[in-house]
Amino acid sequence: MTSLAGKSALVTGAGKGGLGYAAAIALARAGADIIVVEHKAGMRRAETTLADVLALGRKCVALEADVSDENQVTSAFEGLHVDVVVNAAGVMLRKPTVETSVAEWRHVLEVNVTGTWLVARELAPQMLERGEGRIINVASQYAALAGPLPEPAYYASKGAVANLTRGLASEWSRGGVTVNCIAPGVFYPTQMTEPLGADPDVLARMMNRTMAGRLGDPDRDLDGLVTFLAGPDSAYVTGAIMYADGGWSAW
Ligand SMILES: NC(=O)c1ccc[n+]([C@@H]2O[C@H](COP(=O)([O-])OP(=O)(O)OC[C@H]3O[C@@H](n4cnc5c(N)ncnc54)[C@H](O)[C@@H]3O)[C@@H](O)[C@H]2O)c1
Repeated sequence: MTSLAGKSALVTGAGKGGLGYAAAIALARAGADIIVVEHKAGMRRAETTLADVLALGRKCVALEADVSDENQVTSAFEGLHVDVVVNAAGVMLRKPTVETSVAEWRHVLEVNVTGTWLVARELAPQMLERGEGRIINVASQYAALAGPLPEPAYYASKGAVANLTRGLASEWSRGGVTVNCIAPGVFYPTQMTEPLGADPDVLARMMNRTMAGRLGDPDRDLDGLVTFLAGPDSAYVTGAIMYADGGWSAW
């Protein structure tokens, strides 16, 4: 099993209940200390994550920052030592294009794409200085596919996160900093996917759309991938988009 003892991992969007939380707990179980980052609306759930990480015997702090806000990111991250970053903060917009305002469109792109880029830009220099680091972005199975629901801003943003991953990897991999991307399928329930449960037919159709015949379990189905990409065994893996989607994207 990967040991991350002595490493410090910063996870955005890690308030309890989502995939960021799952990543934070998996990394803490592997031995890492955790820095939880949430925006204002997620700080109560961030405090719960903090308590859960401390209960595992690791160090933890919870910091408030809107990842799409340059000033907040710069001031919240000042003086931090970070070995591993997981960019899990993200937002969804389920709305047809003709009903979507420019402000709504921009918000999705700002959080999902600019936020990922800003956090990486802020933390990569210290990793490059040490010649070692791991950046793990979170796209989606919709990085290269559209899905069945009207979520065009989200699809655009996740395609961008995947190609941003390749671009950052090309800049930083020679400096010892790998940049990879996890592309999860439909993980249920999280704050983002909970509304899908309002229509059991939608959930059933999504389940059947996977080869595995089930949705992703946030409590376990990403743990191995996250700890692998955060650890020493993935040193030669970079610029990769790794799908954990029960086979959705493969047929
Ligand atoms: N759940 C899924 O099925 C699924 C599938 C593919 C990809 N993803 C991606 O995984 C990530 C986590 O999604 P989730 O399902 O856990 O949803 P979630 O809503 O539970 O988690 C997203 C977290 O990001 C935080 N956040 C939102 N805007 C922020 C901002 N501006 N600054 C800082 N934090 C902010 C939220 O408070 C929340 O805790 C997202 O990037 C999402 O797009 C999720």
